[in-house]
Amino acid sequence: MATDAEKLAKLTMNENSGDVVNPWNVSSSSQKGVDYDKLINRFGSSKIDDALLKRMEKVTGKPVHHMLRRGIFFSHREMNLILDAVEKDKPFYLYTGRGPSSEAMHLGHLIPFIFTKWLQDTFDVPLVIQMTDDEKFLWKDLTLEETNKLAHENAKDIIACGFDIEKTFIFSDIEYISSCREFYQYMCEIQKSVTFNQVKGIFGFTESDCIGKISFPAIQATPSFSGAFPQIFNGQKDIPCLIPCAIDQDPYFRMTRDVAPKLKLEKPALLHSTFFPALQGAQSKMSASDPNSSIFLTDTDKQIKDKINKYAYSGGGSTVEEHKKKGGDCAVDVAFQYMKFFSEDDSRLQQIEEEYTKGELLTGHLKKELIEVLQKIIGEHREKRAKVTDEMVNEFMKPRKLKYEYKSVKTKV
Ligand code: TYM
Repeated sequence: MATDAEKLAKLTMNENSGDVVNPWNVSSSSQKGVDYDKLINRFGSSKIDDALLKRMEKVTGKPVHHMLRRGIFFSHREMNLILDAVEKDKPFYLYTGRGPSSEAMHLGHLIPFIFTKWLQDTFDVPLVIQMTDDEKFLWKDLTLEETNKLAHENAKDIIACGFDIEKTFIFSDIEYISSCREFYQYMCEIQKSVTFNQVKGIFGFTESDCIGKISFPAIQATPSFSGAFPQIFNGQKDIPCLIPCAIDQDPYFRMTRDVAPKLKLEKPALLHSTFFPALQGAQSKMSASDPNSSIFLTDTDKQIKDKINKYAYSGGGSTVEEHKKKGGDCAVDVAFQYMKFFSEDDSRLQQIEEEYTKGELLTGHLKKELIEVLQKIIGEHREKRAKVTDEMVNEFMKPRKLKYEYKSVKTKV
């Protein structure tokens, strides 16, 4: 008998490549990781191409973020409509989220938040961040009190990314939904518009799953509609929403985009990222459930150094001689991949790629440079997080008006 996880894996398997991508499982049979071009075809999203990047630069008057330049954010759904809105001086808002299942967030979890912070700064728009403490109660062996506490703990890491308190609303499902009639009404409308057969097809739920799981996608869908936040949008129901996330979350928003026209609402737009790989290699994403696969935001400098040296999969030769002769393979080398996500210096990254490929730069040296980059990023994060008080968390999580102006960012390029 196949387990539920196996049934889901089969259902969401990329037939041609052996890749599995869904909100609960990401794996690939290739050392290079998921074949993202094939995934775009299978999911029916669009590739972020040079033309779109140029248009973003034209509309914002700023260079695009290095995660866009380097193809880390690689896929989208109707980003062009968001840019149309900006050009016409029309508003939009950002929506992203976190499932608080453990206290320690890992480096992969930072990716969408670092990028969302850049989007907020660049477009000067409001942002809502959903903490799905209800989801983690339904899926994990945790009580509602525990997941709610984790939501507040994780909010500290999110706030430490630098979001503007006047433009950002972070909410726990458990707390906010019971206090907002409009949010709950949208949830009900969505629940009524999607059948069990549809969620079974999208998420692979089975008859033995609890009914909480089956109706949960409506909860993750709801923040895509501005009417669910009357205190922020004054009851305006048609403000477009842009969702940055890794592509594992796309099934929720495929469902949301299917439902939107039935409810006469705007479909949310999306920007999808690739996965920050596990230390062992790109066949799987960094995951909090396997501590040796991950670098956590709570790791000490020594732990970071030891984990990279011990576990980071190397695309280099097995001996120094072999490496110098044959060169290294950046496409599978975890240290190089991590540099691609986190080093902001384009020319140094290009130099590393060239020298490593030729075998001039050794694995040990590349790892040493990466360790310094990560120790700096996590060290700075640690300091910023230590300054986030419970009062600040409460303020971010209080339903309130946000301060923002609906103005477009004028073209300078
Ligand atoms: P969660 O907590 O699993 O993940 C939070 C965010 O991090 C992204 N992510 C990654 N990105 C790059 N590399 C990785 N290895 C990696 N692992 C996780 C996820 O795609 C996500 O963007 N159900 C959601 C919470 C949620 C949400 C949302 C997420 C509610 N509403 C709207 C995005 C957008 C969850 O459990 O995320």
